[in-house]
Amino acid sequence: MRNETIAIHAGYEPEATTHAVAVPIYQTAAYSFDSADHGAALFNLEAEGFRYSRIANPTSAVLEKRIAELEGGVGALAVATGQAALHFAFVNVADHGGNIVSVPQLYGTTHTLLSHILPRQGITGRFAESDKPDAIEKLIDENTRAVFAETIGNPAGNVCDIEALAKIAHAHGVPLIVDNTVATPILLKPFDYGADIAVHSLTKFLGGHGTTLGGAIVDSGNFPWAKYADRFPAYNKPDASYHGLVYAERFGRTAYIERARSVYQRTMGSVLSPFNAFLLLQGIETVALRMERHVENARKVAEFLRDDPRVAWVNYTGFSDSPYYPFVQKYLDGNASSLFTFGIKGGMEAGKTFYDALKLITRLVNIGDAKSLACHPASTTHRQMSVEQQRAAGVLPETIRLSIGIEHSSDIIEDIDQALEKACPSSRLQAAE
Ligand SMILES: Cc1ncc(COP(=O)(O)O)c(C=O)c1O
Repeated sequence: MRNETIAIHAGYEPEATTHAVAVPIYQTAAYSFDSADHGAALFNLEAEGFRYSRIANPTSAVLEKRIAELEGGVGALAVATGQAALHFAFVNVADHGGNIVSVPQLYGTTHTLLSHILPRQGITGRFAESDKPDAIEKLIDENTRAVFAETIGNPAGNVCDIEALAKIAHAHGVPLIVDNTVATPILLKPFDYGADIAVHSLTKFLGGHGTTLGGAIVDSGNFPWAKYADRFPAYNKPDASYHGLVYAERFGRTAYIERARSVYQRTMGSVLSPFNAFLLLQGIETVALRMERHVENARKVAEFLRDDPRVAWVNYTGFSDSPYYPFVQKYLDGNASSLFTFGIKGGMEAGKTFYDALKLITRLVNIGDAKSLACHPASTTHRQMSVEQQRAAGVLPETIRLSIGIEHSSDIIEDIDQALEKACPSSRLQAAE
């Protein structure tokens, strides 16, 4: 099946008792057992079924199947937020002493997770100088447990060379984990290019309406955990916390995602509520259509900004002079992201005036909503970073990040035009010339 169809149908058939066509919301904490043996079989992971909603829930299970199918993976785990998904994705490969080698252009909180939070648990985030494959390779050593990248960086907009990163990761016997939030599986399927694990914030384009937080981890099923038994003992040695289970032996291709659920979801929570799973499923039904409009509107806005004398620069990867243009063609089929940045003439002050003058476009720190959104990363999402780290992440003091929505493009452009006029009046520009 194709994206549009998967987004509406995958993971659910009208259920046998009520024939409900919409996915039911199973708002239950627990599930009854037929017998002691049935309960034991569920706990031993020998029987299929549900036992407690911290571990799995039928509404969330539909969401998991739908996302797994959209990504072309063997299984998924839905969790409360994208950040929880990233945390589980990292600790599911790295123990104390391990490191994760990452591109520098990351969403600010993910950067904080890797640079400040995981190190307290003995896992180090190592940031390469750039997203170039050789910069990544330089940092890999015998303690590396994964290579990490955002397929499209937030807010830098850089498009990673996933195929090259996957080759390097695999040459060193580690998986490539990607955050595919900004691209979504509609624009890009990272497993087609060798990525092993995809992580999502469902809060963004997939959910699409800015109402609901959620996250997911998707397993391609392709990483050979058993081949690298010394590097990944957690998959290849008996797990004392789970009756001596050996994940790679027992689950084969789904070892990673089963372990994420049985070890981390079970003991640490971060559960997605069934109601939120339902809302996210509603959003996903239209994601393919929405992405088309996001992409089309963004191009019109980017072209308007590029041609405007009040604008200093536009970092839009759909322009042929962008260094990422070749990757937009290769990985995104020419569909540059609706998340991009620009800077107004007059630096920080003019940028702030522009930001405050917006009327239709909402000032906030979210992306991927049906509504057009704007953010000033240096003072919000990326403010925990040093100026150097901000620069490496693609954030300058004057940078405005836009997430272009699906309103009428002329209304979006008119709003930007009036805000530019307040921040950088054309008369002032003419006088300066
Ligand atoms: C690329 C990316 N990954 C992960 C996250 C975190 O997602 P959540 O807010 O659902 O925890 C965000 C949030 O903006 C993001 O932009």
